[in-house]
Amino acid sequence: MSSQSPFAGVVALDGPSGTGKSTVARRLAARLSARYLDTGAMYRAATVAVLHADVDLDDQVAIAATVEAAQIEISTDPDNTWVTLDGVAVDGEIRTADTTAAVSAVSAVPAVRAQLVAAQRELIDSGGIVVEGRDIGSVVWPTARPKVYLTASARARAERRAGEVGADVDSVAADIARRDGLDSSRAASPLTQAADAIELDTTELDIDDVVAKLLELAQD
Ligand code: DC
Repeated sequence: MSSQSPFAGVVALDGPSGTGKSTVARRLAARLSARYLDTGAMYRAATVAVLHADVDLDDQVAIAATVEAAQIEISTDPDNTWVTLDGVAVDGEIRTADTTAAVSAVSAVPAVRAQLVAAQRELIDSGGIVVEGRDIGSVVWPTARPKVYLTASARARAERRAGEVGADVDSVAADIARRDGLDSSRAASPLTQAADAIELDTTELDIDDVVAKLLELAQD
């Protein structure tokens, strides 16, 4: 397509944390004059609801009921991202260590996934959007084009994440390994590369290189 006409399709960007996914997805959306959806932020907001309710993380029924009662709204403007829980901004709280430690347990609950996937599909339906997550190309929007799976070496991912959150690389590496294990082994839509996804290893690439590559794919 020509770079003049607005991007009307759906880009799926999946992969584990620390691959540069969020930064790349937001910049790509801005370059395409498209919307942007951070599905991880939705799972994180659901997790904040569960933590506020003081629900036992082993109690899947109570987790599902808490998330079902929660009102999660999210911006799709790449230049003005926000997420609210029951009308209150939770942008800081979704990134705390407590939320990060609990998000895999909440996002493994099938009823939570069903609810959030339905909300995601409603937001994606009108097109012109870059969507980042774990299961976008495999479950949420299998017809997305391009459908990209970002990877990077474990070390590169830990170093990037440590830089973002200001923690030491070894503890971040351990946390990433723990979350990857949980996200990849859960029964409901595990983190997995869709068979028809294009794999892009970002270990040696900087953000601008990755955005340029994705722009090419989106404008093919
Ligand atoms: O991308 P992130 O680190 O903000 O995602 C937070 C968590 O949410 C991550 O541990 C896995 C989960 N997640 C998911 O299960 N499915 C998605 N589409 C996005 C995120």
